[in-house]
Amino acid sequence: MTKLGIIISSARPNRVGEKVARWVAESAGDRFDLDFIDLRDVALPSFDEPTSPKSGADKTTAHGRSWGERIGALDAVVILTPQYNGSYTGALKNAIDFLYSEWNGLPTVLVGYGWGAAQEVLPLLEKLMLRLDADIVGTVGLGFREDLSVDGELFITEQKAAALETALLAIESKVPAPIA
Ligand SMILES: Cc1cc2nc3c(=O)[nH]c(=O)nc-3n(C[C@H](O)[C@H](O)[C@H](O)COP(=O)(O)O)c2cc1C
Repeated sequence: MTKLGIIISSARPNRVGEKVARWVAESAGDRFDLDFIDLRDVALPSFDEPTSPKSGADKTTAHGRSWGERIGALDAVVILTPQYNGSYTGALKNAIDFLYSEWNGLPTVLVGYGWGAAQEVLPLLEKLMLRLDADIVGTVGLGFREDLSVDGELFITEQKAAALETALLAIESKVPAPIA
């Protein structure tokens, strides 16, 4: 079964990210083997490998290795991002920076949430992931008032639900089913 990671990139005790993750998981249903990747639990330190991951050098830290193995085991990923001062969270940027080859060609869906349907952060995150040669198969921007409340009550519009479904179908079409 296609292994799909869902990355939660905020850490507030009252974060909305968890509820958005639940919506993504419910939309994915039983079509995927889900890995909820909560960056609060992953708890990476600030990037502390001696060389850039792009160099292809072996990772030297236990946390770097295990983070690389976790993302490397995925067939696809949905990255959830709030807008923090018009951008993604520091934790997300740091977690992305830790890896390179693991992102290359990985079918990736970006789900942003915030004011203005996350249209500040989504282009930035897309640019970052394209730089790492991720295969962006869809972006969904959820807006406060239109799709959810600031407290995380979800009332996702049909249009956004359809956008997520299109992205999930695109993942299914990209990842070949295993030979029985
Ligand atoms: C430090 C900080 C900066 C924020 N900056 C923005 C912003 O620039 N644009 C925006 O739409 N919302 C902004 N917000 C509101 C967040 O998008 C909103 O609180 C969201 O729920 C945060 O995600 P989380 O609940 O998963 O932590 C900011 C919130 C915080 C805590």
